[in-house]
Amino acid sequence: MDHRDGSVVIGSGGLRLRRWREEDLPALLEAYEDPAMRRWLATQVSGADGAAAWLEAQRRGWATGTRFAFAVTEATTDEGRVGEPLGNIALKRPDPRNDCAEVGYWTTAAARGRGVASRALTALSEWAFAEFAEQGLTRLELMHQVDNEASCRVAEKGGYALARVIPALPPDYPLDGHVHVREAPSAATLSRPADHRAEAAGTGGGPASGR
Ligand SMILES: CC(C)(COP(=O)(O)OP(=O)(O)OC[C@H]1O[C@@H](n2cnc3c(N)ncnc32)[C@H](O)[C@@H]1OP(=O)(O)O)[C@@H](O)C(=O)NCCC(=O)NCCS
Repeated sequence: MDHRDGSVVIGSGGLRLRRWREEDLPALLEAYEDPAMRRWLATQVSGADGAAAWLEAQRRGWATGTRFAFAVTEATTDEGRVGEPLGNIALKRPDPRNDCAEVGYWTTAAARGRGVASRALTALSEWAFAEFAEQGLTRLELMHQVDNEASCRVAEKGGYALARVIPALPPDYPLDGHVHVREAPSAATLSRPADHRAEAAGTGGGPASGR
């Protein structure tokens, strides 16, 4: 599949994951006005220029194969149309040679509490393992600050087991973080040396994910 052609669409659990577009920017800006987004995310987006820069960063990520951000929408609305973004979910692979990649997410305040993040996480994880199996992707990780209980629950529901606790990194990350891990279906049955797993799990980036 060519990641640069904009054609990647994942449909699963009543949701549709597709690439972000210019016309989504008002919804993006509105989503970032929510205090929870300011509290839990390291990256903030504000103003027309900020939104345009954010979109450009997502396009660059797709073009370079290092970051794959999807707008999460309903598969169809009552009117039969695909709705506007309910959230964002991204696969981050800064080094495509690494067998591990990171996942991050957020949902709009209005969309929360109905399984959007966890369904999107499941869909993205299945897509990532299928898409990058030949390149050796065997493990996905996500990180959240310990007191982000909603994110912890999303991780559990998405099949990401708590793997370890990482120390706080103030001022950006004042509290410890959780690292959750989901293994590729074929890799889950293979035993890995514990020390190798611990070493490889340290992708850095602090406890807040969804950036
Ligand atoms: C975290 C976030 C993505 C969850 O999105 P969502 O679409 O509401 O997630 P889901 O509906 O799939 O699941 C949320 C789960 O958390 C639970 N939850 C919500 N708030 C909670 C809280 N304060 N304490 C404990 N559990 C909580 C919900 O009950 C639900 O679990 P359940 O299905 O077992 O009832 C959303 O709150 C968000 O965008 N927050 C701001 C940005 C953020 O924190 N991103 C993640 C950074 S690591």
